[in-house]
Amino acid sequence: TAYELAQSGIDHGPRRIQDRNEAPEAFPREFSNTPDTDPSLPANIAWAKGIAARIPTSELGSDIVRAHTQTTIAELDEALSTAVAAGKAWSAKPAGERADILLKVAHVFEANRGRLIEVAGSEAGKTIDQADVEVSEAIDFARYYASLAPALDNLEGARFTPVETTLITPPWNFPIAIPAGGVLAALATGSGVLFKPARLTRRIGSLVADLMWEAGVPRDVLQLVNLDGSDRNLGQYLVERVDQVILTGSIETARRFRSWRPDLRVFAETSGKNAIIVTPHADIDLAVKDVVYSAFGHAGQKCSAASLVILVGSVGFSRRFHDQLVDAVKSLNVGYPADLSTEMGPLTEVPSGKLLRGLTKLEPGQSWVVKPRKLSDNLWTPGVRSGVQPGSEYHLTEYFGPILGVMRADSLVEAVEWQNAVEFGLTAGIHSLDAAEIAYWLDHVHAGNAYVNRGITGAIVQRQPFGGWKRSSVGTGTKAGGPNYLYGLGHVTPAFTGT
Ligand code: ALA
Repeated sequence: TAYELAQSGIDHGPRRIQDRNEAPEAFPREFSNTPDTDPSLPANIAWAKGIAARIPTSELGSDIVRAHTQTTIAELDEALSTAVAAGKAWSAKPAGERADILLKVAHVFEANRGRLIEVAGSEAGKTIDQADVEVSEAIDFARYYASLAPALDNLEGARFTPVETTLITPPWNFPIAIPAGGVLAALATGSGVLFKPARLTRRIGSLVADLMWEAGVPRDVLQLVNLDGSDRNLGQYLVERVDQVILTGSIETARRFRSWRPDLRVFAETSGKNAIIVTPHADIDLAVKDVVYSAFGHAGQKCSAASLVILVGSVGFSRRFHDQLVDAVKSLNVGYPADLSTEMGPLTEVPSGKLLRGLTKLEPGQSWVVKPRKLSDNLWTPGVRSGVQPGSEYHLTEYFGPILGVMRADSLVEAVEWQNAVEFGLTAGIHSLDAAEIAYWLDHVHAGNAYVNRGITGAIVQRQPFGGWKRSSVGTGTKAGGPNYLYGLGHVTPAFTGT
């Protein structure tokens, strides 16, 4: 809506390419006649109920995941040589032809929106609304990179040459949009692609690949490889043999790749520890809504999630902010995606280590404002802790789960210092209606995606190209969903003629 657009922070250009809310008729027909459809409900509720009916009610699809077999070394060799050979014809095509296939991928994704959501709910525990926007983002990537590709053939004074092989290793938390973005960008440039889905979301990965092949991406150009992480040698084997890697994952994974191959050409989006500042000049209702959604959407399992809220001055002592936040967090319906009333779904993996500590342990000076409760192994209610001190473990650590910490700063200057004090710089937010505060913040915040009066998750392709500063990015730092992304994935060579 116009209101949401006005609230959506820094504006990098035209509005999102594909907005599902504008096209309710595009809902897949396959779900319009499901037996439990109540004709009196709005079409989208009926559609969502049809999907929910196909998602297991209380567990994730780990058995199905384990049933996948692992790609062998011989198969990796074959995948590599096939992608190189097939990539020659693929890169020789006019970029416009590759773009046309990307547009077909967008169409096939839209036609299979329901299936994608169903599998993301079953395998990863994504709620229907979270998986739905992910499908939209995948479609946005396809259309946006299709719109950029033709320019690769017409660079002024330069030539664009793709690499032969790109490995895409996406994360499990965005198992549709992030692999789609990486694979489609590499394909748009003319590279052969090896796509290795995350260990926990291999069924979604194979569906994403199937849909791309169905849309006309040549099978040999896009190779699906299946590694479960149990044998690091296989991953290393692959990383050592491709021309470049698009990785979205933890900073530890990026470091491991670099230790295997110090000269690796890598485009990595890594971890985040992200904060939203709320000043006394904020619209408190809006701030609470955005903090809660940013912290607990997909149970906080986003690199972009808000893990901290930093309250400036009087907001830190305001009953109104405190009570609204507590009410909002306590009222979140926690459950499995099969239940349409679920607002916060399960953790994709049973919490252990750092995350379990974050869900159960306080540091000196901290107290639970809302204490997390374990409902089942991977289902936890959200938690809010106050009294987070600058420099404490909670302040500086990424937990990747449904916990929010509250800090109180004396001034905006101090709040920004604390926001920047972490080793990462992925997303950041401020809620303030004061132009001078916003200007100060924009001048001083160290984050790739800085949002004003908006939640800090859900970057929109083209409008909010995504990528971080500091340890949130390894490699060139070119942003996904931005205008330069395709150029970075190949070689741009000046081509002078004459004297
Ligand atoms: N691009 C995803 C987001 O912005 C990670 O939330």
